[in-house]
Amino acid sequence: MSGVNYSEKIPNNVNLVSDRTLQRALEHWQPHFIEWWKGMGPSDFQSADVYLRTATSVDAQGWATYGTVKMPEYRWGIFLADQQAGRTIGFGDQMGQPVWQQVPGEYRSTLRRLIVTQGDTEPASVEQQRLLGHTCPSLYDLRNLFQINVEEGRHLWAMVYLLHAYFGRDGREEAEELLARHSGDADKPRILTTFNEPISDWLSLFCFTYFTDRDGKYQLKSLAESAFDPLSRTCRFMLTEEAHHMFVGETGLGRVTKRTLEVMKEIGSDDPARVRAAGAVDLPTLQKYLNFWCSSSLDLFGSEISSNSAANFANGLKGRPDETQYDDHVLRSSTFKMGTPAGIEEVPMLNALNEVMRESYLKDCEIGLKRWNRQIERAGFPFRLTLPSSRFRRTIGAWAGQPVDPAGKMRSKEEYEKNLYSWIPSEADRAFVHSLMQKVVEPGKMAAWIAPPERGINNLAVEYEYVKFH
Ligand SMILES: [Fe+2]
Ligand SMILES: [Fe+2]
Repeated sequence: MSGVNYSEKIPNNVNLVSDRTLQRALEHWQPHFIEWWKGMGPSDFQSADVYLRTATSVDAQGWATYGTVKMPEYRWGIFLADQQAGRTIGFGDQMGQPVWQQVPGEYRSTLRRLIVTQGDTEPASVEQQRLLGHTCPSLYDLRNLFQINVEEGRHLWAMVYLLHAYFGRDGREEAEELLARHSGDADKPRILTTFNEPISDWLSLFCFTYFTDRDGKYQLKSLAESAFDPLSRTCRFMLTEEAHHMFVGETGLGRVTKRTLEVMKEIGSDDPARVRAAGAVDLPTLQKYLNFWCSSSLDLFGSEISSNSAANFANGLKGRPDETQYDDHVLRSSTFKMGTPAGIEEVPMLNALNEVMRESYLKDCEIGLKRWNRQIERAGFPFRLTLPSSRFRRTIGAWAGQPVDPAGKMRSKEEYEKNLYSWIPSEADRAFVHSLMQKVVEPGKMAAWIAPPERGINNLAVEYEYVKFH
């Protein structure tokens, strides 16, 4: 078990004091990070006391402590999961050889790119969500938002540590760039499109944490398999924190559904206009939000056929999530039947790994849908929520720009365009959802469009004052 030294400027379990140069470089970056946090982090809540968990160990038995803290004073630290003695490469052409403690020269730029791309999403999401505090549906939700925000900040630290520790001067420059790009910025946007979409309402936040943080989980799982051991250990610990982000999404969407069903029963109708008039999110609108965020997140897995992901796998840089569940870890002789607009194509399995990942991601996404549909069924309404086809509204890969509807059916271009806003939120839908976003900050109170959670945080009551303002 590795404890964390909290007396240091940068809490860490990597024995930072033993490397003065690295320590100084990170202590130089730290004030830039705090400046970024104050400028681009949650707007207007920097002096609030927030009940937050902080990672203080990587021990599975108890890795976090809870307490009240002002966000700019949060102890962002560097934690790697414990090293596994004798760990060997679990996939690719070098399978069975010892993992790497340093970056091999030939993979240096590819590994740096993988780390920077992952690292870029972390502060991006904080930027996307920075105004949401002003319309929080409850103190409980406000606290959860801030918990996610500080942890995405810590994930940035996790990637910056790797850049500083293993990539020399290039790494230090990349670490500065991670604070210089901003979500939605016209000149210096974040690297991936989804992370430039503004998140201006809480329904979008719940969809983002359900779908996009889950993509994060899959990326981290595949990097946790990496032969570059420090990256693997970093990602393994990040996954521990990530689980809460998806919990917020899944329970958030479940609470929205629950409240909508209560309203539908109260008014004795499933007419969307009447549900809206009663102040809840009608189920067709919820379905549109799911379609939008699911399809946007599916693009994050990349093209169906990819020589980059083939090389990353063959070289041991990035595996499949839960690599050990597969029988074949080399994939030099297997193929994959890929559906493309031109028909079924048989492609080398190595080139189909993005699609393999996308398929297992979609299976994971089904879990929440099943739960929400059970709620709807129990309430006695015929409506069912569904995931859109992985071919719907894609902007990269084989299906990019194809007029496929959410059910996966090819339409004519005209039909597609005419119907698009019956599948994803229209301006009017967004305006309606925005109109529901009224700030509720009385302890225990909830906005009218969302049901209370089943329990509070860390065994505290739902009514607990999770955020105190000054
Ligand atoms: Fe993250
Ligand atoms: Fe996350």
